[in-house]
Amino acid sequence: MSMAKCNISLVVIPLLLHIICFLLFPHTLQSQENGFSRQPSREFVFTSHERSDSDPQQVHISLVGKDHMRVTWITEEKDSESMVEYGTNEGEYSKKTIGEHTSYKYFLYKSGKIHHVLIGPLNPSTTYFYRCGGLGPEFSFRTPPLKLPIEFVVVGDLGQTEWTKSTLKHIDSKDYDVFLLPGDLSYADTHQPLWDSFGRLVEPYASRRPWMVTEGNHEIETIPIIQPHAFRSYNARWPMPYNQSGSTSNLYYSFEVASTHIIMLGSYTDFDEHSKQYKWLQSDLVKIDRKSTPWVIVLLHAPWYNTNEAHEGEGEKMRQAMEALLYEARVDLVFSGHVHAYERFTRIYDNKADSCGPFYVTIGDGGNREGLALTFKKPSNPLSLYREPSFGHGRLRMVNETHAHWSWHRNNDSDTFVADNVWMKSLSSLKECWELGHQEL
Ligand SMILES: *[C@@H]1O[C@H](CO)[C@@H](O)[C@H](O)[C@H]1NC(C)=O
Ligand SMILES: *[C@@H]1O[C@H](CO)[C@@H](O)[C@H](O)[C@H]1NC(C)=O
Ligand SMILES: *[C@@H]1O[C@H](CO)[C@@H](O)[C@H](O)[C@H]1NC(C)=O
Ligand SMILES: [Fe+2]
Repeated sequence: MSMAKCNISLVVIPLLLHIICFLLFPHTLQSQENGFSRQPSREFVFTSHERSDSDPQQVHISLVGKDHMRVTWITEEKDSESMVEYGTNEGEYSKKTIGEHTSYKYFLYKSGKIHHVLIGPLNPSTTYFYRCGGLGPEFSFRTPPLKLPIEFVVVGDLGQTEWTKSTLKHIDSKDYDVFLLPGDLSYADTHQPLWDSFGRLVEPYASRRPWMVTEGNHEIETIPIIQPHAFRSYNARWPMPYNQSGSTSNLYYSFEVASTHIIMLGSYTDFDEHSKQYKWLQSDLVKIDRKSTPWVIVLLHAPWYNTNEAHEGEGEKMRQAMEALLYEARVDLVFSGHVHAYERFTRIYDNKADSCGPFYVTIGDGGNREGLALTFKKPSNPLSLYREPSFGHGRLRMVNETHAHWSWHRNNDSDTFVADNVWMKSLSSLKECWELGHQEL
């Protein structure tokens, strides 16, 4: 294996991208506002493969249906079996399931064997110990609770830098149930070994709690002529339970967990009113039962509301197409990523404050190598209640059917600091939002 050659490209390409990025956006590395020095971007981190070729690597799990989990991992070795053994006691595996595998080619790169195994039925709030392919280290995860309360971690635009590492460490320092990621995972940007590196970086976290993701622009990875198919790596490595929600695309789906209906939309596939995604969203919203899932939240990548100069207006077409659907369904919250900063809005519908519209939050501040989106527009927009270009992560705790607590945790060097937090009431509990003729038009 030509390790030297491989290493050079792994170092040089990100470095070049970094330099290009700096030349294009020099302002991302400086600035001071409100007496707090903004965090400059930090070193790219390559997480190397240290197990044997037959050992599982890049293990991550995702929720499927009411009580199943998909276990995904990769082996270099092609003969490894797509099999998961699991049980509720350490080192004892009372159950065993065989699944499927895939792989993909991308220009000169050929992926390892990507294994996907669906295990279950599993009990709620239970720790399971598991092993992949019959060998290698033991992993464990905890299933989410059946009922509220439940705590979600929400963060987008993660990447793989020293900041990503500290964000993940902060996330891990306090318990939670499910990880939600509104797009832009690895920032491999066509350089496929960086998807493997990302898989290894997140394994200690993503093998312990389900990670539910939707796609960002960095997942597209098309190259004219050479690589015309979009989302090749993303779809092979991060399959989500779209079929279970009646979707025909891994780029949008929904799932339910502990009284919460979560819709993952796709900013980088068709969304106009004649599109499959639009029709799917319509049918998904109709199916929601607010008695069993009083909370409804949506994640997507390119924000519909954004007062940062970065990516201004990029989510506008999608907003115009789909906002009314979400509003009429009384969606509680919409999270997006893409803009590398934190911003929280009030409840909005059609650019106006509306007490029955969703809250909008941009949480694209996971720690990627592109650095922060430092410049917010002035004067500030009264709909925007808190905005700050710092890295960090969010936590959404559904306390009960009527109350949720949202907090944003800024990365403060090695520490984490709750910089913004707010209580929210569920729209399902606000009678006035369900009366006919609420809408003024
Ligand atoms: C996809 O969903 C349909 C309907 O829910 C189900 O009948 C089918 O078995 C599912 N297919 C897979 C591969 O899970
Ligand atoms: C829900 O939680 C909120 C906040 O802790 C509390 O004030 C409220 O009484 C709770 N409601 C119910 C029905 O328990
Ligand atoms: C960072 O942490 C220090 C020490 O814990 C604290 O005094 C300071 O207020 C924090 N600053 C920010 C901006 O979070
Ligand atoms: Fe993005």
